[in-house]
Amino acid sequence: MSDPHKPLRVGIAGLGTVGAGTLSLLRQNATIITARAGRPVTVTAVSARDRTRDRGLSTEGLTWHEDPVSLARDPDVDVLIEVIGGSDGPAAAAVRAAITVGKPVVTANKALLALHGAELARLAEDHRVPLAFEAAVAGGIPAIKALREGLAANEIRSVSGILNGTCNYILTVMREQRRDFDDVLADAQKLGYAEADPSFDIDGVDAAHKLAILGALAFGQPVDFPALHVEGIRRISALDIAFAGELGMRIKLLGIASRHADGVSMRVHPALVPEREEIAQVDGVFNAVVAEGDFVGRVMLMGRGAGAGPTASAVVADLIDIARGRLTPIWGAEGDALTPLPILPMEAHHGAYYLRLMVLDRPGVMAEVTAVLRDTGVSLQSMLQHGRAPGEAVPIVLVTHETTEAAMMKAVAQIAALSSVLEPPALIRIGAT
Ligand code: NDP
Ligand code: HSE
Repeated sequence: MSDPHKPLRVGIAGLGTVGAGTLSLLRQNATIITARAGRPVTVTAVSARDRTRDRGLSTEGLTWHEDPVSLARDPDVDVLIEVIGGSDGPAAAAVRAAITVGKPVVTANKALLALHGAELARLAEDHRVPLAFEAAVAGGIPAIKALREGLAANEIRSVSGILNGTCNYILTVMREQRRDFDDVLADAQKLGYAEADPSFDIDGVDAAHKLAILGALAFGQPVDFPALHVEGIRRISALDIAFAGELGMRIKLLGIASRHADGVSMRVHPALVPEREEIAQVDGVFNAVVAEGDFVGRVMLMGRGAGAGPTASAVVADLIDIARGRLTPIWGAEGDALTPLPILPMEAHHGAYYLRLMVLDRPGVMAEVTAVLRDTGVSLQSMLQHGRAPGEAVPIVLVTHETTEAAMMKAVAQIAALSSVLEPPALIRIGAT
């Protein structure tokens, strides 16, 4: 690393979707990368589990390490790229090993950063090495650079967006092709979008990892994953997607971090968004990151949030910074300048709600439901019901005016307990803020 003209020698830990994509990109775009990095960027060694697996590219001439920690310590490796995944285990061990011997690290591993990002940043600061993670949030979108560098002069009031390509792909295809959830999830896995454990995607955990990272950068606080409120898309049905359409809205899995007078709110959950809003039109594997700064106003970035090419693009951008010797504080400021802020509980959220019930089609049912809303202080804005099925189950949709989460939860618990309500109610928050 000391001679800025020598090739930068790279070790890649993990040769799956992202690792193989990175190796291909470095080979295919070698000429422009050399120009932009000011020197060649050369992969010298790799690590993965299965040596015999066909990865669609040649690993001839590269040193193969069974153990990613030994890759990190290889004297022919100047920089470690960690694209194994997982918050602990071999990925974390390799990252710690590289930093400890003074080697820069590039990682796409949001789970690792969300859970151990504060400790790893301290370790990297102590060893004066970069720990770069552009690929960890929103795939190919340069969201980290934008927030940490491009918007560095601003007090960031909120950062939000569509942060999981798998979920956005599933919700889009369910809406456009009227297909079932499980069937579309299998497609997203085949396309290389989903995590090794896809429940991380569909239960909102992956989006929450990314939001924890964005929230730390935006608000200058240590990354605090356990403080987030997290809900996924498992319970979103084709019926709700269709009703949302009738209401002129789309269902998106959103991550929203916002600063308030008494603390910050950080939450991931499905939301109904009016279809005329830009974020509602971000479809398929595309992600969007929206930041609000006090001087810049609103900034929206959109691009592919998962997949080999977009993610490799972000990994290699970090490598070029490292080759050039650019060093930015890992979380936007040094560790001792970061201040934990109070995290507001979800019960304090204020907004409008979509509530879909399956009820017995008999006289008086609506009166029972609206009596609960009256008693809990929740005001109704509109209602949808189609057709008749006397004595059988029919769906009804209620849209509320703005209320508190605490009041809405109380109302839903009481409505769910009514004998005429046949299934657990589907409750979805409305709005992208
Ligand atoms: P894959 O599951 O496709 O690849 C993981 C790779 O790690 C495989 O090559 C696997 O080896 C290797 N590996 C697993 N365990 C070990 C071990 N103990 N020692 C050495 N190698 C090991 O994952 P992805 O490429 O999809 O994801 C990698 C990382 O990038 C994750 O952190 C993910 O969250 C992140 N990411 C992924 C994106 C995507 O679109 N896929 C986008 C942005 C970030 P083998 O091939 O032999 O099984
Ligand atoms: N599984 C993630 C997604 C990969 O679907 O968005 C990109 O981080």
